[in-house]
Amino acid sequence: MRPDLPPGIVVLPGTDVEGAWERFEMFEALHHGMRICNPMHGSDLDEVLGHLDPAAGDRMIDIACGHGELLIRAAERAPIEGVGVDLSPWVLARAAGEAASRVPDARLSWWLGDGKALPKEPWDVVTCLGASWIWNGSAGTARALAARSRPGAAVAIGDLILKQGADPAAIRQEYGAVLTQADYARLLAESGFDHLDCMVLPTEAFEAYDRRVAESAAEWAIRHPGPDADRYLEEQRTWAEDHRRDRQFLSWVVWVGRRAGTA
Ligand SMILES: C[S@@+](CC[C@H](N)C(=O)[O-])C[C@H]1O[C@@H](n2cnc3c(N)ncnc32)[C@H](O)[C@@H]1O
Repeated sequence: MRPDLPPGIVVLPGTDVEGAWERFEMFEALHHGMRICNPMHGSDLDEVLGHLDPAAGDRMIDIACGHGELLIRAAERAPIEGVGVDLSPWVLARAAGEAASRVPDARLSWWLGDGKALPKEPWDVVTCLGASWIWNGSAGTARALAARSRPGAAVAIGDLILKQGADPAAIRQEYGAVLTQADYARLLAESGFDHLDCMVLPTEAFEAYDRRVAESAAEWAIRHPGPDADRYLEEQRTWAEDHRRDRQFLSWVVWVGRRAGTA
C-alpha cells in the first residue's frame, strides 16, 4: 500500500523514516483526496502568493509543506529555488510526483524531517501554513520563521485565532489562551515583521475542509478495507466533532508579512 520514497527526497539527519511512514498513514488517509491540506482553496493560495511575490532565483522554504501545492504554484509563477519540508513521507512522495508532472523543470527539493530541527538560514521566502504546533504555538512559530528569514524576506503563517465576537473567557479552560487578531498582529510586529495582509477564512471554508476530510477517509476505507481504515474513519469522526466545536470559537487565518530591514 505504501508508495516508495522517491529517490530525490532528502532525509534530514535523525529522521526515523520507518516510524514516520507508520505515524503519518492516518493523516494521509484523511487527506489523500486533497492538494491543499487545510481550509484554503487554490484561489486563496494564489492570493497569498500574490503578496509573497516570489521572484526568479528566490530561495523559498515551505515548512510542513503537505502535498507541496504552495511551492508548486510558486514555481509556476517564477523560477524559484524551493524546498518543501515535512515529517510525513506520504505527503512528500505525493509532492514530488505532482511537481515532476506539473513543473518538471522547477528547482524544487523535498526534505523529510522535523521542521523544528531546520538550521537557521536566511531564506528569501518562508512559509508555514497550518503547523504551528511544531514550535508549541503562534509565538514560537513567529520566532522560528523570523530566525529563518533574511531582512526583507516575505513570510506567511497559517494558524488559528479567536473568532471575532467569541468570548476568550468561555474557551480559556479548554483551549488555553487563544490570540485575537489584534494580539497576533502585535506578536508579529514584536517578532520583527511588517504587516502585509491577514486573510481570515470564512467558517464555510472550515466546514468544506471537514467534508473533504470525511470523503478522503471514506475513499481510503474502500480502497484499503481493514481495521486500520476503520480506526481512521473513527478518528475522522472525532475530528469532525472537535472541529464543529472549534468553529464556534476559532477562525483559520493566513498572515503575510515582510521581515523588517533590507537585504
Ligand atoms: C495541516 S497540514 C498542512 C500542510 C500544508 N502546509 C498545506 O497547507 O497543505 C500539516 C502538515 O504538517 C506536517 N507535520 C507535522 N508535524 C511536523 C513536523 N514536526 N515537522 C514538519 N512537518 C510536520 C504534516 O505531515 C502535515 O503535512
